[in-house]
Amino acid sequence: MLRTHTCGQLRGTDRGREVTVCGWVDSYRDHGGTLFVDLRDRYGKTQLVFAPEAGQDLLQQARPLRSEDVITVTGVVALRPEGTVNPKLETGEIEVRARRLEVLNKCPSPPFTPGQADLPGEDLRLKYRYLDLRRAAMQRTLMLRSELVFAIRQHFAELDFIDVETPILGRSTPEGARDYLVPSRVHRGAFYALPQSPQLYKQILMMAGYDRYVQIARCFRDEDLRADRQPEFTQLDVEMSFVDAEDIIQLIDGLMARLAKKFQGVDLPLPLPRMTYDEAMRRFGHDAPDLRFGMELIDCTDLAKEVDFRVFREAAQQGGFVRGMNAKAAASRYSRKLIDELTDFVTHDFGAKGLAWFKVEEGCQLASPIAKNFSESQLKNLALRMDAEPGDLLLFVADKWEVTCKALYGLRKRLGAELELYDPQAMHFSWIVEFPMFDRDAESQRWVAMHHPFTAPREKDFPLLQTDPGAARAQAYDLVINGYEAGGGTIRIHNQAVQQQVFGLLGLDEATARERFGFLLDALSFGAPPHGGIALGIDRLVMLFGGLDNIRDAMAFPKTQRAADLMTEAPGSVDETQLRDLGIRVLREQDRPIQGRSP
Ligand code: AMO
Ligand code: AMP
Repeated sequence: MLRTHTCGQLRGTDRGREVTVCGWVDSYRDHGGTLFVDLRDRYGKTQLVFAPEAGQDLLQQARPLRSEDVITVTGVVALRPEGTVNPKLETGEIEVRARRLEVLNKCPSPPFTPGQADLPGEDLRLKYRYLDLRRAAMQRTLMLRSELVFAIRQHFAELDFIDVETPILGRSTPEGARDYLVPSRVHRGAFYALPQSPQLYKQILMMAGYDRYVQIARCFRDEDLRADRQPEFTQLDVEMSFVDAEDIIQLIDGLMARLAKKFQGVDLPLPLPRMTYDEAMRRFGHDAPDLRFGMELIDCTDLAKEVDFRVFREAAQQGGFVRGMNAKAAASRYSRKLIDELTDFVTHDFGAKGLAWFKVEEGCQLASPIAKNFSESQLKNLALRMDAEPGDLLLFVADKWEVTCKALYGLRKRLGAELELYDPQAMHFSWIVEFPMFDRDAESQRWVAMHHPFTAPREKDFPLLQTDPGAARAQAYDLVINGYEAGGGTIRIHNQAVQQQVFGLLGLDEATARERFGFLLDALSFGAPPHGGIALGIDRLVMLFGGLDNIRDAMAFPKTQRAADLMTEAPGSVDETQLRDLGIRVLREQDRPIQGRSP
């Protein structure tokens, strides 16, 4: 090694020692001819002193040092003079009195410095990621990530799981997103699909008898990106044979308890709480509710049927719903202007038609421009239902079920943060269970799998596949942390006939099912054990355990919202010869057929 110690290592007990340290110049100050440099590496910072006593040559050499120069310094460890100890630094008791300096690499003035107080714009951070990763916050996150993955591996190794790698170049595994495709040179016109998850391979491993599988797996999904989604992400992927949902849930409960203890110092009470999908939609309007705070949705549809206010009455009478929320003691916090902002928020972002609101005054009187459309007793009943107390702000959306869910979920999330209804350091873990097997796709009027097509219905719901598929509930479970879906899994279909029936319901005729999933159908017939599993998003776990609000901050080299890597400028164009080898011609903008015009 070129160094004897890291920049985070030296203490008062090292006094008098000659040491060599290497790192980046974090800051430099000239104090009356003596030069102070903070030297940084990923372990910490050490103060270097270039004093006149060490000779003018050394001072001359040190004077041009600037931010991010890479240097190595040999010197003697000394206690800092009285009153100059820095209790915020682990090495704050000492300094290294330099005797020799070598500049390993000069750095031109960087677009930002890792130590600067204000965070640079994200595009700049992503373009110069190597500078950004030098920031203490990013270093902490990547170390947390490494430790988290290590703890996870330990957990599964102790439980006799075996780690199996599955291919990246494969056939499409449907998880509900678009595939990233890779053209084959050898098989012209044919494409590999990058895995959206290792779902089918892990099921095949169960059929092959490897009854406890684990993998930290890369997954690829071409979908609209959000703060918690990346096109390329990492799953903790798990599958087991001869298990039911309870076994998988308990396994992950144990893992969460271990991680909460190690990274939060918290003893998680087990089992983690569970809620059915239906209850979550009713109480929170979403299948991944943030349970760190209350402010639940309250249904007033029955009351709304009777009121004079046309917006409420018509929605309620026409099969819609009127649901609301009581923002406790929030009336004075929200002026008319702020309520208008909330109204814009629910209408623009969630397609609600409006936001009805009341401020609760003395004697539980409801005050609002719309109050005149209600009788005294109607207002009273509403106040009672909403558990209204003076100072509360009541908010309502009247619409189709889905719209009330989306709009009130969004509003609850926003108000929860604005009103600081939870401790941002705290973590809340829970399970959402008994998801519907299928969702109705509004456009195509087809059933689509709520999880994926390999999910088994509850035993007692098998007959519903024939009679009422929409009512069938799956043996599915999602792990929710602080309002994020951290993981999801299911017990799988292990019977070929049932699998074929579910493919049928999803609109895959027998020939297509065979063409796409023939290997699975065959494997199911060659002795498939009952099996099930789960996958957890590692990036999301890092984001949550790291207290971050963006998945991009939880990974070393994330992509932008537009799926680009600003540092390497991927995706990029390729040589004509590469395209020719692959038999691919790229349509330029002007060659593209215009929609609606016949070719
Ligand atoms: P699912 O699609 O629910 O299930 O994915 C499991 C978990 O992976 C994480 N995740 C993502 N993280 C970041 N960016 C994304 N684009 C992204 N998509 C998903 C989430 C999610 O909960 N094969 C099944 C699992 C199974 O049934 O065993 C699957 O992939 O945290
Ligand atoms: P309007 O009758 O459209 O002027 O609306 C009166 C009030 O009711 C306004 O504050 C609207 O934001 C609100 N409003 C309108 N439509 C709805 C709806 N579907 N749900 C809740 N509030 C609504």
